[in-house]
Amino acid sequence: MPSATGKTVILGSGGTIAGTAANAADAVGYTAAQLGVECLVAAVPALADVALECEQVAQVDSKDMTHAVWQRLAQRCAHHLVRDDVTGVVVTHGTDTLEETAYFLHRVLAPSRPLVLTAAMRPATSLQADGPQNLLDAVTVSRSGPGGVAVVLAGVAHAAADVRKLHGWRLDAFGSGDAGALGVIEAGRWRAFRTVPPGAARGLETIAGDPAAWPRVEVVTSHAGASGRVVDALRALGVDGLVVAATGSGTVHAELAAALQRARDAGVAVRVVSRCAFGPAIDVASGAVDARTPWQMRVDLLLELLAARASGAAARR
Ligand code: SIN
Repeated sequence: MPSATGKTVILGSGGTIAGTAANAADAVGYTAAQLGVECLVAAVPALADVALECEQVAQVDSKDMTHAVWQRLAQRCAHHLVRDDVTGVVVTHGTDTLEETAYFLHRVLAPSRPLVLTAAMRPATSLQADGPQNLLDAVTVSRSGPGGVAVVLAGVAHAAADVRKLHGWRLDAFGSGDAGALGVIEAGRWRAFRTVPPGAARGLETIAGDPAAWPRVEVVTSHAGASGRVVDALRALGVDGLVVAATGSGTVHAELAAALQRARDAGVAVRVVSRCAFGPAIDVASGAVDARTPWQMRVDLLLELLAARASGAAARR
């Protein structure tokens, strides 16, 4: 077990890790977000002697994640991460939007202390429950792993900037692709593979306003048969930003491209990234590469529009 003397704060937000089913053999027909965070900790005897503090921040199935929960999570993480008696923070979460929340916290807080998100692919009542080991591993990383935002599942830690959910069923559902994992937890010990330079934090002040009034940023996909009509409809509805999940290295269907130009002309901010699981969008003119996922770019555009709104400047189209 970790040697750090400070506390690990565990923030509960729901997910399958807190899910229950009537039948222990049922790993599909369960209800996510049922058990409180104290209950998750109680299921891990090895945590009994670790200095912990628990707080329930939300209780949601992460497919239903909201900007309001993101704001509250970021505020509570920031609150605990600056405490003198806290070594690191762990967030229990659903797997479905785990990578989005991790990236959001990374871009807002870029903490120097460990902020570790964990989850489970099987509910707490399952014969195959992976939550207890994942939680134990996450606590280990929070006490002896690197600073910054990491995601820990199946004994592997991934950086928030690289992690993707790659599989809908397997217990090792997450990967970091070309970048590779941050490290592993082996027999309760952290072993690092690489380090990650700290990112620049947007800061809590960027997300201070009422989430109901945050800019509207939607993701549209370039695909065979695209007409661009969805873009025209979103523009008519007053969307503020559009992220295009483009084909290959960032190519866009001609019909969709024409509609996106109409959106730009109307003041909508448009960003293009690749819909491929790994591999960047490449800007042919400048040679710039961008390996962000559509969901990561959505977070960045949202934060950019919030910052522009606060400063009174117009965002780049
Ligand atoms: C969720 O994302 O909250 C449900 C699914 C999961 O955690 O695997």
